[in-house]
Amino acid sequence: MKKIGVLTSGGDSQGMNSAIRSIVRTGIAHGYEMIGIKRGFNGLMEKDFMALETKDVADILYRGGTFLQSARSKEFRKEEGQVKAANNLREAGIEYLVVIGGDGSYRGAAKLNERDIKTYGLPGTIDNDIPLTDYTIGFDTTLNVVTEAIGNLRDTMSSHDRVSVIEVMGRDRGDIALHAGIASGVDAILIPEIPGDIHKISEKLKDGFERGKTHSIVIVAEGVDKAEKIAHLIKEQSGLDTRATVLGHIQRGGTPSAFDRVFTSRMGHKVIKLMEEGIHGVALGMEKNEITYHSFEEIFQAKNVVKANLYEIFEDLV
Ligand code: F6P
Repeated sequence: MKKIGVLTSGGDSQGMNSAIRSIVRTGIAHGYEMIGIKRGFNGLMEKDFMALETKDVADILYRGGTFLQSARSKEFRKEEGQVKAANNLREAGIEYLVVIGGDGSYRGAAKLNERDIKTYGLPGTIDNDIPLTDYTIGFDTTLNVVTEAIGNLRDTMSSHDRVSVIEVMGRDRGDIALHAGIASGVDAILIPEIPGDIHKISEKLKDGFERGKTHSIVIVAEGVDKAEKIAHLIKEQSGLDTRATVLGHIQRGGTPSAFDRVFTSRMGHKVIKLMEEGIHGVALGMEKNEITYHSFEEIFQAKNVVKANLYEIFEDLV
């Protein structure tokens, strides 16, 4: 029986468990033997392998995190680490490997594909920063978590005539801030892709309060600056009572949204189909509601498109 290995790598994201479940159950249904690899590429180098049966992935569909656990491996970035990992896979008879993770994990997966391990990537990151897919795993759930948190902050801010500056994740990308900002009807969005002007924002917030507003919300992507610093500048320039909140790792938790569960179930199914079609060295994603795939190289070469259009929409809404 042919063996398929699956691992989760990099920062975890809600929906990784659902992806593992889909890969394992579809793989078994199509006659493959399934192997879970613990703690990402670290587990690959330490041969931390476990056989997975249908029952082993029961009750994980709706759980955040990843039951295989995840890590960022320094050793695997070096060539010796990659040779060791490929040898361990061959020794265990694992012919196919599915890596669920972000850009760094894809680079590792591509290296193994060059070493004749048939490798596949699934976009597991809340940041939505992988090109050639409209969404990444966990992004939708994170937006819901952030939107709910902003709602809570709005309640207390409006009781005290305050401005709330909220810092969200996204590494060097602003997708979480932009989407959650629009979903929450915030007053200003600061993202790395589009320079913002704190002076203009402060003036606008001041005008709002003069017109009778009781609260204002500013969302800032972590790639721009610290919320504390932005809040200090706004307070200084506007004179408004301004507080900073860093949402932090709360954004990476919680039960995956229905969208993330269905999205990952579709990709898990498709990856097994690709194995049967003899296609490998590719990463999957969703474009225009279709599950699509591209070679790792294509993804590395592709430009990460700035969601400028969405920003334009936001500017007309505030
Ligand atoms: O890439 C996912 C992410 O959550 C980023 O948004 C964030 O910058 C980073 O990981 C945090 O990493 P860690 O969990 O190692 O602190």
